[in-house]
Amino acid sequence: MKILIPGMDGYIGWALTLHQLSLGNEVCGLDNFSRRKNVDEMNSHSALPILSIEKRIDYLEKKFPGKFSFYEGDLLDSHFIDDVVKRFSPDAVVHLAEQPSAPFSMIDQEHNIYTQQNNVIGTLNLLHSIQRHVPNTHLVKLGTMGEYGYDPGLEIAEGFFEIEFRGKKATIPYPKLAGSWYHWSKVHDSNNIMFACKLWGLRCTDIMQGIVYGTRTHEITNENEFTRYDFDEAFGTVINRFCAQAVTGYPLTVYGLGGQTRGFLALVDSIQCISILLENPPHDGEYRVVNQFDQQYGVRDLAEKVQKVGKTLGLDVTIQTKENPRKEMEKHFYQADHEKLKKLGFENTRSVEEEIKLILEDLLEHKERIESKKDIMFKGIKWNKK
Ligand SMILES: NC(=O)c1ccc[n+]([C@@H]2O[C@H](COP(=O)([O-])OP(=O)(O)OC[C@H]3O[C@@H](n4cnc5c(N)ncnc54)[C@H](O)[C@@H]3O)[C@@H](O)[C@H]2O)c1
Repeated sequence: MKILIPGMDGYIGWALTLHQLSLGNEVCGLDNFSRRKNVDEMNSHSALPILSIEKRIDYLEKKFPGKFSFYEGDLLDSHFIDDVVKRFSPDAVVHLAEQPSAPFSMIDQEHNIYTQQNNVIGTLNLLHSIQRHVPNTHLVKLGTMGEYGYDPGLEIAEGFFEIEFRGKKATIPYPKLAGSWYHWSKVHDSNNIMFACKLWGLRCTDIMQGIVYGTRTHEITNENEFTRYDFDEAFGTVINRFCAQAVTGYPLTVYGLGGQTRGFLALVDSIQCISILLENPPHDGEYRVVNQFDQQYGVRDLAEKVQKVGKTLGLDVTIQTKENPRKEMEKHFYQADHEKLKKLGFENTRSVEEEIKLILEDLLEHKERIESKKDIMFKGIKWNKK
């Protein structure tokens, strides 16, 4: 299979590229390196050292001769993406190239507009190029469980649900009640993708992905293969942040009551799920939505899990409640369907505790990189700043 991966240089993109090349597929990556720049802006860096893009390209070209190509460029440049899609003519596109941080989008007006523009216009450019040059290709787009919002007060369906209103029944998209500018950009993407499927007969899988954590996949076996691992307030996801805090003796930062419940999955399983979906494409014109997560946990429960696993490694982990800078419910009902991937064969690779242990072991090897940036651990980016 020929797979185009916009966002190849990112946390998931690099790991997915290694995996797909290992399977014998041909991969073309593209990236504008905005993740590296945005983490710099937060005055942080990846806890695990990663190769420069030049070294990454060199590494992949040597390890997988004739199977890998790369283009530097921006999805906002419609001529650039059009040219790449036309030249590479992919069987599938896994679109990861977005600004993925809710707190980053909430910093101020500029960061909101940047996020909306980058994500929404980038996806539209890609859709138009696919329609023009490879209308039968399978677009796999990374959205987020956060599109539904976390407190709809009902169980969350997998994309669509049946409703009865004034005596008539219909199957319609499950309502989206996102809670940050970033999450709304993903909702807008989903609407645009759904319409493109209807209008042009494209086939797309829109993944409502849970929060990803972890350092390892089957293909990450040495330091050259490390994927980035961020722990700052904007780009570190919650388990990854807690683990980075744990290895440096920084109290785990639980916001408010810590009852915020979310779906989670390990990086190795995110890669597994995307790969399963690539092997099982939707039919022409189908807009398929899958909820991609393994288990749901409350934030405080996760902090306690990290504390418990940390203890087995001799770490003295404390938990500190912080005033919640976000506008969100701190305790709520949450129950989301996630059956489609299981039906296609998804099984988790490890338990969350086993994964946390691996993360802590990997981070302990590079503890000084986190210690050197300890002052950026909590800035309190506010959701309702004027
Ligand atoms: N990591 C998670 O927990 C998580 C959870 C749910 C959904 N997602 C989604 O998965 C996708 C990948 O997430 P990630 O954690 O790997 O993020 P990431 O920031 O590490 O990767 C995104 C990559 O895309 C690139 N990029 C961004 N805008 C671009 C543009 N306009 N043109 C070209 N390249 C561009 C960035 O430089 C980066 O390398 C994102 O769409 C994100 O919203 C991630």
